[in-house]
Amino acid sequence: MNIDGSTKVLCIIGDPIEHSLSPAIQNAAFKELGLDMVYVPFRVAEDRLEEAVNSIRALNMAGMNVTIPHKEKVMMYLDRVDELARFIGAVNTIVNRDGELTGYNTDADGYLESLAVEAGFDPKGKNVIIVGAGGAGRAILCAFLAAEVNSVVIANRTYDRAKKLADEFRIKNESIEAVDFDGIYPYIKTADLIVNTTSLGMMDKGSLDLPLGLLPKGSVVSDIVYRPLKTEFLKKAVAIGLKTHGGLGMLVYQGAIGFELWTGKKAPVEAMKKAALEALKEK
Ligand code: ATR
Repeated sequence: MNIDGSTKVLCIIGDPIEHSLSPAIQNAAFKELGLDMVYVPFRVAEDRLEEAVNSIRALNMAGMNVTIPHKEKVMMYLDRVDELARFIGAVNTIVNRDGELTGYNTDADGYLESLAVEAGFDPKGKNVIIVGAGGAGRAILCAFLAAEVNSVVIANRTYDRAKKLADEFRIKNESIEAVDFDGIYPYIKTADLIVNTTSLGMMDKGSLDLPLGLLPKGSVVSDIVYRPLKTEFLKKAVAIGLKTHGGLGMLVYQGAIGFELWTGKKAPVEAMKKAALEALKEK
């Protein structure tokens, strides 16, 4: 990498940030296409968020990724927020166009893209179950609504949180139901896809125990967790012959969409995937 006075700089902010795979993914893409760009991570505390966003202009950075815990609050410091990001209520990608900062959310489209490419799944007209009602569940709910699913069931440990999310979005699709985990039973038998959007299944967390055996043959079990690549939830699905979809693709494709917004060039997705896998081994 040859950094000089004309190198364009991009970054990711979050807290914590040490485990982010995005620097490896984006720098691999710049290298693959021979672009004079570099991407660095910064740990930014919540009370320094506004300063960090303003530094995009001050330092003339090309853009920024935003991760936990800043995705919602960052919206108030931007000049514009894209319609899908407003719908989701969170921004993960900022583009600097001559000092004007526009926020996007590439998580929803990144998820849909990885689902299409890696599992051959088109949500249009399908019945889906979303496990979890946090920020990630919300982004995926918006993705499915935009993709015109037939019905959505939001299943959450805390029923009230699922109900709140379902009530908020019912205006977009009348077939959104909220249940707690026990309430999944009547819906799982006709589901085409179930996705875990909680942190359950990550290295140090417990795993998700749902009656996957009741899913119809040919349905897809999806997990946004990618540490480990194959969660216990996915292993259970494989063991009963169901199709699975892991979480790394969402990370790679959300990054690929960001790369395209910043550079105007088609993202080298294979190089980005390879870099993500290598970085995952090292971390
Ligand atoms: P994120 O923005 O990453 O989605 P979040 O807003 O904290 O994070 O949401 C975490 C989700 O994981 C929630 O749906 C949460 O369920 P609750 O609303 O009941 O808290 C779910 N979750 C986290 N730990 C869980 C656990 N041990 N068992 C079941 N669900 C869990």
